[in-house]
Amino acid sequence: MTGFERDGGVLRCDGVDLEEAAGRFGTPLYLYSAAAIREAYQRYDRAFASVPHRICYALKANGSGALLRLLQGLGAGADIVSGGELQAALRAGFAPERIVFSGVGKTDEELAAGLDAGIGEFNAESEDEVQRLSALAAARSRAARVTLRVNPDIDPRSHPYISTGLRENKFGVDIREAPAILSRLRALPAIEVTGLQSHIGSQITDLSPLAEAARELAELSRRLLDEGFPLRTIDIGGGLGVDYQGGGAGLGPEALAERVLPELQGLPLTLLLEPGRSLVAPAGTLLTRVLFLKRNRAKTFVIVDAGMNDLLRPSLYQAFHRIEPVRETGSPAQRVDIVGPVCETGDFLARDRELALPEAGALLAVRDAGAYGFSMASNYNLRMRPAEALVDDGTMRLIRRRETFEDLVRTEV
Ligand code: LLP
Repeated sequence: MTGFERDGGVLRCDGVDLEEAAGRFGTPLYLYSAAAIREAYQRYDRAFASVPHRICYALKANGSGALLRLLQGLGAGADIVSGGELQAALRAGFAPERIVFSGVGKTDEELAAGLDAGIGEFNAESEDEVQRLSALAAARSRAARVTLRVNPDIDPRSHPYISTGLRENKFGVDIREAPAILSRLRALPAIEVTGLQSHIGSQITDLSPLAEAARELAELSRRLLDEGFPLRTIDIGGGLGVDYQGGGAGLGPEALAERVLPELQGLPLTLLLEPGRSLVAPAGTLLTRVLFLKRNRAKTFVIVDAGMNDLLRPSLYQAFHRIEPVRETGSPAQRVDIVGPVCETGDFLARDRELALPEAGALLAVRDAGAYGFSMASNYNLRMRPAEALVDDGTMRLIRRRETFEDLVRTEV
């Protein structure tokens, strides 16, 4: 086992005591296990080993340089959605041809930067986008490889904010219109249509919608190959969920491969995957200290030093994260709200949660916070974003220092 485990009543990260981490770097602190990320990547790689494949890590889940270099070193490609993510991927050493550029609203500057870097594929989301790309590529006398994102109108049965493959969503083009669109795109200068992509949502725990989307993509790919399109890739996006309850629950890349690979049988294409959450979520914990306890007639509040600006998921999606005392105390469990210092009622990490009542100063671990944790953090209430540390091979190091007030005002003019 790698990652976070309890040993002698204390939660540790690959042997490192989390109290020591908080003592050295302060709280709130994001702490990651390099071993857990390696293991998650290698599980994906093995699960899809029977077909040519490329695992393009979705940077949006966590774009910290140390994690990017780690994944790049393991052989991952990158899935990016902005000029910033392009720069971060290149800086971390990802080979440009292993980068795919997704997103519904790429600006001219972003398209041009992708072209100039020579990225592998643009995952185009509209006909207009490909027209812009064609003009920009032609002006540079280079060809752009385009993968068309199709919207298969499949319900991923996840949270509505992170469902992307329904016809009312802004993503991709209607799968029924794709053949006609592709015929028109084919005629554009400096454009090579090399594949199809779909991404139907995130935190998907029922694999049937993912298998169905893969089937639809495969069917359309076969038809296009028959019509002479020189397709090379099929990209089934990301979306594989993790078990935030911590039970394992049979989710994982092996189960995904078992459902998806039969749908792709016989296709002479390289399979692209864009996992984010499932590579890094369980590998990260947010450490936070209890500031105060407060009771009113309705509730007991555990007020901690991490707020919605540090970890937005509970507030935004009512997402569940396990929260545990780092050191077991044996104090009886009580139903509490674990809340942050931000001036909003929506600022909570957990509501009506059974927790062994901690004392002020105790350290709590918010589990499975490696994905969409730091990457969605903000400076709301002029709070400094937290520090990040990585445990690798038994040693712990800071990978991002805590922000300072100077950082916050640096861009003011
Ligand atoms: N590819 C595309 C085109 C995407 O839009 C996404 C995520 C991924 C790949 C990676 O999906 P994953 O494997 O991580 O599910 N902030 C939300 C999640 C938003 C996901 C957005 N797109 C959360 O905290 O749950």
